[in-house]
Amino acid sequence: MDRIRLVGGNSLLGEIPISGAKNAALPLMIASLLTAEPLVLENVPRLADVNQLEKILENHGVDIAVTGRRALQHEGQRMTLQAAEIVDTTAPYELVSTMRASFWVIGPLLARAGEARVSLPGGCAIGTRPVDLFLYGLKQLGAEIDIDEGYVVARAPKGGLKGGHVVFPKVTVGATHVLMMAATLANGTTVIDNAATEPEVTDLAECLVKMGAKIAGIGTRQLVIEGVTRLHGATHAVVPDRIETGTYAMAAAMAGGDVTLTHARAEHLSAALDVLRQAGVSVDDTPKGLRIRRNGNGLMAVDVETQPFPGFPTDLQAQFMALMTRAEGTSRIRETIFENRYMHVAELLRFGADIKVDGQVATVTGVPQLKGAQVMATDLRASVSLVIAGLAARGETMVNRIYHLDRGFERLEDKLKACGAEIERVTG
Ligand code: EPZ
Repeated sequence: MDRIRLVGGNSLLGEIPISGAKNAALPLMIASLLTAEPLVLENVPRLADVNQLEKILENHGVDIAVTGRRALQHEGQRMTLQAAEIVDTTAPYELVSTMRASFWVIGPLLARAGEARVSLPGGCAIGTRPVDLFLYGLKQLGAEIDIDEGYVVARAPKGGLKGGHVVFPKVTVGATHVLMMAATLANGTTVIDNAATEPEVTDLAECLVKMGAKIAGIGTRQLVIEGVTRLHGATHAVVPDRIETGTYAMAAAMAGGDVTLTHARAEHLSAALDVLRQAGVSVDDTPKGLRIRRNGNGLMAVDVETQPFPGFPTDLQAQFMALMTRAEGTSRIRETIFENRYMHVAELLRFGADIKVDGQVATVTGVPQLKGAQVMATDLRASVSLVIAGLAARGETMVNRIYHLDRGFERLEDKLKACGAEIERVTG
């Protein structure tokens, strides 16, 4: 099993190109189920989750052609997806259980084929993550829903889904994606209140509009979708990854140095960039990219609470915690989105960090020095927080089980190495 070996202490200097966003690419690929015509996606990142979703979509009858799959240049893959016919409306347990986002096929399958049988995704490392809000929303569009042997069986009424009013009691990215996709082909108008406004939701909405969908209120908490009888093909470039951007910004802040994150979109990351500025990091949005510098000066502790967009993202909580282990003072981090997203704490303690968790709150007191360690993590963002800690730790760090990293970070070790980090992948 591959591992990452790194030796801390080098500052980072240079440029890091930001890839297309995993969490935008996945729903965009799923949107191909809504039309018989080809959907061409550009800037698709080369990630294990993308490969896995290709398999899931092929099972439903999507033909997928990819160029640039193995290329090493920054430009992402170009992927053409065509669901001329939906050949299977079942998403089986074996495929869905490996990736939660694959549950989202339920929306397009139901809207286009009138039925879907999708395995419940089950628990995952960051919490129970129920699907009640997906089911509530689909019922508002007239779907009939049963749970049968671990599967959600959904059927559209005769004549197809109907427009309806969906009011989410809490912000949910996945259910917003699914309801928006389903509503594009429903009869009549759907209103989604308390919709997620994450840039990945906006990216999907913009692609759906290119495909012929009628969506108003994009980027706001209220989406109004007027159903159309069919969608057509389109070409769309995946938005740059704000979480990858924030991760490398924190890596540069941790190691010190001067790094420009090219293709980054600062406006998708304002809350996290403000927090970095408060911590004493210099952040400039330049024509070349997002420039992150920390030269000599120490880091200051800052309190953070995760929130839906435009707040501080839960997907950067672990990385920020790693950074705060070296700050001067005590930082209180409150995780409000997922109930169990602190698995990285036990591993950060192995570096000699001082962190205490009490319910939703982690209290991090900065220490003068971290020491390299053998570590592993059980989810993607937790894993990368260990790399960030390792960049500033004295001696060698070995991050085990890095298949989590490969799910969401394209060529992580190459990108950091190019800026001077001592980091390598150890195979076998
Ligand atoms: C998306 O997950 C992202 N995944 C997550 O990124 C991200 O952490 C999360 O949004 C929040 O920003 C993808 O885009 C593929 P939610 P999602 O529905 O859609 C609760 C990463 O590391 N909820 O917004 O699954 C849920 O339990 C991943 O890249 C219900 O209660 O998240 C959570 O507490 C991890 N019932 C809250 O809502 C439901 O039916 C927000 O979850 C659905 C969700």
